[in-house]
Amino acid sequence: MQIIKRIAVLGAAGALAFALSGCAGNAGNADKSGDDAGASSSTGLDLGISMPQKTSENWVEAEKYFNDLCKSEGLKCSVQFANNGVSEQQNQIDTMLTNGAKALIIGAIDGTSLGNQVQKAADAGVPVIAYDRLLMATENVDYYVAYDNFGVGVKQGEALLKGLEAKKPGGPWTIEVVAGSNDDSNSAKFFDGAMSVLQPEIDAGKVTIGSGQNTQAQAATQGWDPKNAQSRMDAILAQNYPGDKVPDGILSPNDTLARAVLSSCEQAGKTLPVVTGQDSEIESLKWIMQGKQYSTISKPTKPLVESVVALAQKLLKGEKDVKDLNGIAVDDKQYDNTKKVVPAFLLPPVVATKDNAAEVYKDEPTKLEAVNSVK
Ligand code: GAL
Repeated sequence: MQIIKRIAVLGAAGALAFALSGCAGNAGNADKSGDDAGASSSTGLDLGISMPQKTSENWVEAEKYFNDLCKSEGLKCSVQFANNGVSEQQNQIDTMLTNGAKALIIGAIDGTSLGNQVQKAADAGVPVIAYDRLLMATENVDYYVAYDNFGVGVKQGEALLKGLEAKKPGGPWTIEVVAGSNDDSNSAKFFDGAMSVLQPEIDAGKVTIGSGQNTQAQAATQGWDPKNAQSRMDAILAQNYPGDKVPDGILSPNDTLARAVLSSCEQAGKTLPVVTGQDSEIESLKWIMQGKQYSTISKPTKPLVESVVALAQKLLKGEKDVKDLNGIAVDDKQYDNTKKVVPAFLLPPVVATKDNAAEVYKDEPTKLEAVNSVK
């Protein structure tokens, strides 16, 4: 996949300098090698870290940050990605448990498909932390660590309105909406957050969804695959925007899909709409600085990885009922997975546009370089 090659450079982003407070003497792991053990040699694992497909750069970055942090913390970890889909992820988690993982960190492809695996973990007394994406319909998930997903959506909706106002002061505006993959429980949070901002404007007649496709189901992008978003937008443009008609804006839930819908508009010969995004992908930062994409969301991977590993270390030390994680208080209301309300530690997302990008990315050299590369 092209994106993977392009973002391999992110590996050079620098070693983790972060030292976690709980590192000394955690559960007697100080003598373990910190190397990524891999599936074949991972007996006596501390952490089984099971990640989804690399559908955006944040997942690629996570691999490096997990491996670096495990090493510096003296934790024996197996970091696995399931690029071939759900059954691969199930098998990988089964293997981690067979190899004695003492805690699991899981970023699910499909939040509803790992019930058997987390049941086995519970039976073995192995705590489970959902990473970035919530695990649904199971009691066997102990915590959730993520950016505030509903807050991401709110910021996307606000950014879209701000960009529209700047483009066509006073409105009214015609927009289209794109949602993420339905199997990722975040998609509903992103969509609902954004619609909580947009719906009042729609009700007031200031914003119209040109195609009428206004539900998450209609707007969904299976597998977060940009090809699916682009072909849906191609069809919407062909059916609803004849001649030089064009939507004023498009709500996009992340950067890969933002670039897909912008490409769709470009290829249809349209002027480019105001388009939102998420993840601060290198290519999108350039597009933002060039004025092609309007906004993205900064939710840096490194602090997320640091937070989830810090929590796992607390659990390895036998801590129960964790209420505070590096100064973030537990949210025990918002994340109902239909079987329980999962205690969540939520990091704050930040919106970035051309105007504030240099400030937002000042401490992330690779992203700052992308921002500054556009004159
Ligand atoms: C979500 C994640 C987003 C984006 C998306 C596509 O779960 O929160 O940041 O990466 O997956 O991979």
